[in-house]
Amino acid sequence: LTPSGLAPECELHQACSIIIDVLRATSVMTTAGLAGAKRMITCENIHAAFEIADQSDSERADQPPSRPLLCGERHCKPIDGFDLGNSPAEYTPDRVVGRDIVLTTTNGTRAIQAAMRSRRLLAASFLNLAATVAAVESEPHLQIVCAGTNGQISYEDVLLAGAIIDRLNESGSGPGEPTDHLDDSARIAWSAWRQSLTPARALEESLALSLGGRNLIEAGYTSDIGRCAQIDTIDGIAERVDPGKAVFRFV
Ligand code: MLT
Repeated sequence: LTPSGLAPECELHQACSIIIDVLRATSVMTTAGLAGAKRMITCENIHAAFEIADQSDSERADQPPSRPLLCGERHCKPIDGFDLGNSPAEYTPDRVVGRDIVLTTTNGTRAIQAAMRSRRLLAASFLNLAATVAAVESEPHLQIVCAGTNGQISYEDVLLAGAIIDRLNESGSGPGEPTDHLDDSARIAWSAWRQSLTPARALEESLALSLGGRNLIEAGYTSDIGRCAQIDTIDGIAERVDPGKAVFRFV
């Protein structure tokens, strides 16, 4: 498990990295993929997003409108001049089907950038937990990158990391014993997930207590927490297709 920005560069080239930003970037990528987005291109800043969109415009001047949708948030809110914000509910088939999406968010797309040198790169959420585990179960060297919030660890991302580790153990393709072959941060995530699963506390409630959850509630996006707390509702995953480029397709 690696905090965003602290990826061990020396080992990245052989790692399969799973990027997690439960609230909300990787939940949005998963939802957009299911809704039929053609490609998801992530970038770290707003300027780069406009450049990517303008470049596609000029490349395709003789073709029907295919300008990518500009998507993302700053301080949880939609960005001026962008088409969509960072609420999964916005990513409906009528808006995104067949379209390229250029996504920039405060933490999630930065975490992707930090892990760019990985051999494989995937975006995970609770929505596609089973699909994530299926996609990585034969990987010998797995790194989970939690986006966190503004450089701080956030509970919601750690919970999903723990859930992935738990499922890998269940499927028998992870470490034989829960604590075998895990580094300490992965062990912490795994126990946080196990402990959060009391009957009294649903995942949605746990997410609402997290740093990312509290920020969303304060910004008026409480309903997104429930959307991002659904488990295994989407069968597929956004995976980088082009080594060295932050271009993802839903597979
Ligand atoms: C992020 O990347 O920081 C998050 O997706 C924040 C948000 O959804 O508002």
